[in-house]
Amino acid sequence: MTTYRTHSCGALRRTHAGQTVFLQGWVHRVRDLGGVTFFDIRDRHGLTQVVARAGDALTQAGKLRPECVVAVTGTVDIRDGAATNTKIATGEIEVVATHIELLNDAKTPPFSINEDTAVSEETRLRYRYLDLRRPALQRNLILRHQVSIAARKYFDSEGFLEIETPILTKSTPEGARDYLVPSRVHKGEFFALPQSPQIFKQILMIAGMDRYFQICRCFRDEDLRADRQPEFTQIDVEVSFATEELIYTIVEGAIVAMWQAAGHTVLTPFPRMSYADAMRRYGSDKPDLRPGMEIGDVSDLFRESAFPVFKDAVTAGGVVRGFVVKGAAAYSRKELDGLTDQAKQLGAGGLVWVRLAQGTLQSSALKAAGEAPLRAAFKACGGTEGDLLLLTSGEAMQVATWLGSLRLVVARKEGLLKGDDFRFVWVTEFPLFEWNPDEKRWDSMHHPFTSPQPDDAALLETNPGQVRARAYDLALNGSEIAGGSIRIHQPAVQRHAFRLLGISDEQAAARFGFFLEALEYGTPPHGGIAFGLDRIVAILCEESSIREVMAFPKTAQAVDLMAGSPSTVDDRQLRELHISTTGK
Ligand code: AMO
Repeated sequence: MTTYRTHSCGALRRTHAGQTVFLQGWVHRVRDLGGVTFFDIRDRHGLTQVVARAGDALTQAGKLRPECVVAVTGTVDIRDGAATNTKIATGEIEVVATHIELLNDAKTPPFSINEDTAVSEETRLRYRYLDLRRPALQRNLILRHQVSIAARKYFDSEGFLEIETPILTKSTPEGARDYLVPSRVHKGEFFALPQSPQIFKQILMIAGMDRYFQICRCFRDEDLRADRQPEFTQIDVEVSFATEELIYTIVEGAIVAMWQAAGHTVLTPFPRMSYADAMRRYGSDKPDLRPGMEIGDVSDLFRESAFPVFKDAVTAGGVVRGFVVKGAAAYSRKELDGLTDQAKQLGAGGLVWVRLAQGTLQSSALKAAGEAPLRAAFKACGGTEGDLLLLTSGEAMQVATWLGSLRLVVARKEGLLKGDDFRFVWVTEFPLFEWNPDEKRWDSMHHPFTSPQPDDAALLETNPGQVRARAYDLALNGSEIAGGSIRIHQPAVQRHAFRLLGISDEQAAARFGFFLEALEYGTPPHGGIAFGLDRIVAILCEESSIREVMAFPKTAQAVDLMAGSPSTVDDRQLRELHISTTGK
């Protein structure tokens, strides 16, 4: 067979009637009606119905099985009105086969490609090449391609250079463990795979590259979740002489371009919110703005209350907070008990509900607290007739996290999290450090190259926990889709930041000496950001896991089930790498 197909399997229309065509693809479904055989031929562009009525074509069609590869020569015919399939683009025509050639046979697949049957994720990942034949995954990968091309074009048009940075490199701290690669040439020494190109992109600014971007793979050995993979793709960006405002403008432009590629219009500028406000009002540093349901603080109403739980919490320096669920006064006792259980599972001591139905205030704490403070709290949180208020108390940060999670549970239950409602928000002024109770020291909240807010510089020595960073995240619908900062560009400040993180001058020299040295040679002020491409595409595809938008993802146990990696290697390889293992 030397000829290439004349059309894809999704191309033929009524206008092609009478033409002789040559199609190649996979057999999707076969219907042998005795004396006439219909089958669908499929490729990633679509499906075309083929009919074999007589002669050699009919004999060949009788041998076809799903997923074998065929070449069909035939004539395009318009289907009878009743036989038209309005669900597919080629549904008005069929190809009457004159010749069918089996190009390759296929074993019976472990799951059917031609129907949407439930298949375990393990089987799907083990046979990913079959899974990828399914239209849903193909759509996701096509959209991913369109979104990354749009991003690339956008950054090019804004004067950015795409520059590749090393994969075999040195540890870049982003808060995860490194994947290490042993050196054969240098006994006992290791490369680390990049957790991000952070240091290299900053060095590119020192090198005068001005505006850099890269669509790059990053590697992090961390606990996996639906939105985390050990290797994932960032759209990494760095800009010299940048201010926060410039970064916001550039990023918003990129988002508009990517969303446009996916067929959506996005309005800019995006709202902004400080980290402190996001935690207080939404109980999350990546607030989902779709459901409303803002968290209100009613601590003052319970300071002198008769209700010991709330009063004691406030006396101990804690808070009483809650949020209103519109129109949820009719929740059954079972539903309310369910929410209380959920709150307890999240760690809360309990949950108080208050509702106003037909003018009567009801509450799980009515007897204990009395009506007045509960009514005031209900009103303060925006409750009106028919609404439900959920309240809890405790230490401020814990209450924020409990309510932040509970808010999403309720929003999901109420159907308020629509996949195509895109609510972007910048979260700004993150703390520079967070306390690591295990190691009893401060850790960077983002990474150690983040600049403190100039107004907070004096607090670096006296109260590191209060220092705000020039860091920003872009959150979308409860997901962190990008994060970055204005960087430290003065070597002395960078050294000081390492010391505050418990990294001695010697350790800093060993780990980052090359970077500290580079900073000494005329570093422009600079800043940047990195987008999580997998997360962005998952949201655009309305998928709950980034595995659905990656061609070859790993399982939650960080295993590639198809290739069977990680795997053992032979002794000779280990010897060459100067490695001995303690066995499996
Ligand atoms: P950060 O660590 O916030 O910043 O990463 C940037 C974005 O990458 C995505 N992301 C992930 N996606 C999938 N799987 C993972 N394991 C994973 N980890 C992160 C998120 C996140 O917002 N060097 C800095 C950027 C900078 O400061 O410019 C960095 O890597 O969407």
